[in-house]
Amino acid sequence: MNPYLDEKNMKIQKAVIPAAGFGTRFLPSTKAQPKEMLNVVDKPLIQYSVEEAVQSKIKNILLISSRGKSSMEDHFDHSPELERFLKEKGKQGYLKEVKRIGELVDLNFIRQKEALGLGHAISLAQSYVGNNPFSVLLPDDIFDCPTPCISQLMDAFSKMKASIIVLGRVDREGTKKYGIIKPKQVSERIFQVEDLVEKPGPEKAYSDLGVLGRYVFTPEIFQAIKETKPDTKGEIQITDAIKHLLKSQSVYGYLFEGTRYDAGNKMGYLQATLSLALKRPDFKEQLKDYLKTVKVED
Ligand code: G1P
Repeated sequence: MNPYLDEKNMKIQKAVIPAAGFGTRFLPSTKAQPKEMLNVVDKPLIQYSVEEAVQSKIKNILLISSRGKSSMEDHFDHSPELERFLKEKGKQGYLKEVKRIGELVDLNFIRQKEALGLGHAISLAQSYVGNNPFSVLLPDDIFDCPTPCISQLMDAFSKMKASIIVLGRVDREGTKKYGIIKPKQVSERIFQVEDLVEKPGPEKAYSDLGVLGRYVFTPEIFQAIKETKPDTKGEIQITDAIKHLLKSQSVYGYLFEGTRYDAGNKMGYLQATLSLALKRPDFKEQLKDYLKTVKVED
C-alpha cells in the first residue's frame, strides 16, 4: 500500500486521454483527420471516452493531442455560428446536442510533439494531475458496461489503494495485441500483477489476461516512466513503466463487467459500429431488416 494515499486524496478527480497517435492502423482514412474523430454510429470515437469519464463524475480531463488534431478541440468547444444556424432553422434536436457537447466537461489540451510512445504521452500529464492518483482512458477502447468501466475501476482502486488496470480475457491473437499480466488472484475480479509484458505473443504469454485501455495510477507512475528505457522502436511503453513501478509498489488488475470493443483497428471498429447501432432503438429494427437481406459472397 502507498503510505501517502490517505482517505482524503483517494478520490479520482482527473482523467487523462492520450490521443496523439498517427492512427496508422486506419490509413488511409487517417491521412488528413484524427482517428479519434472517426464516426462510430453517430458520434466521434473520442466522445465515448469523454462521456464515460463524465458519467463517472470526473470533472477535469486532459487530452493529449498532437499536430493536425485540432478538430478534437473544436468538437468539444462551443460553436456559435452553427448554434445560431440551427436555431434559425428550428432544428432543436441538433441544437440541443451540439450545445450539450460544448458543455460536457472542463477539457484541457496538451500536445505530444514527437511520437515517443504511450508512456511518454502519459508523462506529459504530470503537472496537470500533480501528486494525486488519476485515471487514464485510451479512446480506442469503447466500453459498454452496466456501470461505466472507469467507474468500476475507480471503485476497485479505492479498495486496493494501489495502481490498477482493467483486464479482459484474450485469445491467442490478443496476446499479440495487448499487454499480458502474470496474475495472482485476490478475489473474483481482482488480481495482483506479478509481472506484465507488452504484446508477448502466445508462446511467451503468462496468461490470457490482457491489459485493456483503462488505468488508475498512483502519481509514482511518473517517476517510473522517467526511469523506463524506450523499446526497440524508440517508444516508452506504459506497460514497461508499470513493470518498473512493480519494484516499489503493488499493482492490481480488475476484470471488468461488461462488453468492450477494440475500435483501434478496422475490424474492431466495424464490430463496434454494428453492435452499438443494433442496440440503438432508432436504428435497431431497420438495421436488423437490412442485415437479413445482405448476401455474402464466398
Ligand atoms: C496499448 C498498450 C497495451 C494495451 C492496449 C489496450 O497498446 O500499450 O498494453 O494492452 O493499449 O488497448 P496500443 O493499442 O496502443 O498498441
